[in-house]
Parts: sequence; structure tokens; C-alpha cells
Amino acid sequence: MSQAVYQPKVIVEPDACAAGQTVAEICQTEVLKQPGITLGLATGSTPIPVYQKLIDQYKKGEVDFSQINTFNLDEYVGLSGDHRQSFRFFMRDQLFRHINIDQTRVHIPDGLADDPDQHAAQYDALINQLGGIDWQLLGIGSNGHIAFNEPASAIDSRTRVVELTEETIAANARFFDSPVQVPRRAISMGIGTICEAKRIVLLATGSAKSDAIAAAIQRPPTEDCPASLLQYHRDVTYVLDAQASAKLR
Ligand code: F6R
Repeated sequence: MSQAVYQPKVIVEPDACAAGQTVAEICQTEVLKQPGITLGLATGSTPIPVYQKLIDQYKKGEVDFSQINTFNLDEYVGLSGDHRQSFRFFMRDQLFRHINIDQTRVHIPDGLADDPDQHAAQYDALINQLGGIDWQLLGIGSNGHIAFNEPASAIDSRTRVVELTEETIAANARFFDSPVQVPRRAISMGIGTICEAKRIVLLATGSAKSDAIAAAIQRPPTEDCPASLLQYHRDVTYVLDAQASAKLR
């Protein structure tokens, strides 16, 4: 990664559905060009419309996912893949069980690894062994986090165990029966790991993301806003809905 700063491409769509459609079309084009592509995938509310459109494309026979490899950004430490709030469960439920993906090509950190630190390092190494991530989908937190790289994460951070901030725990509490059930640690790809992806698409929708988007795109890069560090990557596309783009000048 060079230290030059690049302007990202910014696409603004009227609403979350249209933004999801645009990202799914970009992803489809990538898979059609490179059937054995390695995709980096995200969880959370934002990518759900993307995954729905990818399922539609598959059901219409427009795309074949049988040769793709996937690496998910993150997983909670302490949750098994069968836990309804684990990211492995989410991916199976929202995408993988609906398409013809080869399960042996799916990679998600193991929240129950005996040694999470060692597992995280092995996950990072596996990405490299398989040739790196060709196309990475990201969401963004309202504090500018990408994956679970919270503010102050190092620009060269690798996949590792991270402590979640109170803000992120509170935001994720909506998915759990009570806030005390929200895991406090996760295994997350690092910013350095993410920035090694060849192409990056960050999808953000809703007004809660508008400040983070303005900081990420228009302020100088700083570790205080992890997404702003994407300015050091030469091939980043932001796909936004009108609300998320509202504070861009
Ligand atoms: C998920 C992830 C997170 C989310 C972010 C936004 O794998 O890495 O960084 O992208 O927390 O979450 P939503 O989309 O639920 O607002």
C-alpha cells in the first residue's frame, strides 16, 4: 500500500434497495469476469439487499457461484457457527444456503477456536495462500469502523482479536435478547489486510452513516476514522443511498 491518497469513486442511489442492486450488479460483473474469484464479504443489516439480489441473479440463471472463494471480515469470539447471532449463521441464512456455493470454499473466522489469536493469524495467512481477496465488500459503522476495526486501529493491522467498543456493542444489542449477551470480542480482518484487497466496494445506507461517510471521504485520513484509511487504496468505490450521502459537499 502506497501512502499516496486517492479519490474514491462515489455512486449515490435514491434508496437502500437501489444501492443494494448496484452493488449486486458490480459483484455479478466481477464473478462473470473471473468465475474463481475470491470475494471478501460483510455481515450486518446493510448488505442484506445485496445478498437478496445475488440470490435473485442465481435463481434466474444469470450467475454461477460454484467456483468462488469467500472470506468473511469477522466473527464474534465465543459464538459457535450455529448460534443465530454468529456471522457464520448469518451468511448461511442470508446467502449461502440459497446459492450454489461450494462450502469448502467458504471461510469465516471460527468464534470457538481454542486459541483465537493463533486462529486469526492463520486466517490472515490463508487469505494470502489463496492469492488474496480480489473484491471486498464493506459496510461502515457510525463511528467509521470497518470490519471490527474500531477508531485508533492501526493502519497496518492484521486479522486479530479485537475488543469491541461500547458504541458497537450497543449498536449490535438489537440482535440479542439482552445487551449482556453481546460478545465483547471479535476476530476481525485488520485494516492492512482489507487494504490488500484488489478492489473495494463500501456500501452505506441510512442517515446514521452520513457523518462517518463524510469523514471517511472528505477529511484527511486518520486512524480516528478507520474507513478514512481507505483513501490510501487506489480502487475504492462507495455506493451510498441519498441519506448516507447527505453530508457530502
Ligand atoms: C460486518 C462488519 C461491520 C459492519 C458495520 C455496519 O461484517 O464488519 O463493520 O459492516 O458494523 O453494520 P450495519 O450494516 O449493520 O449497519
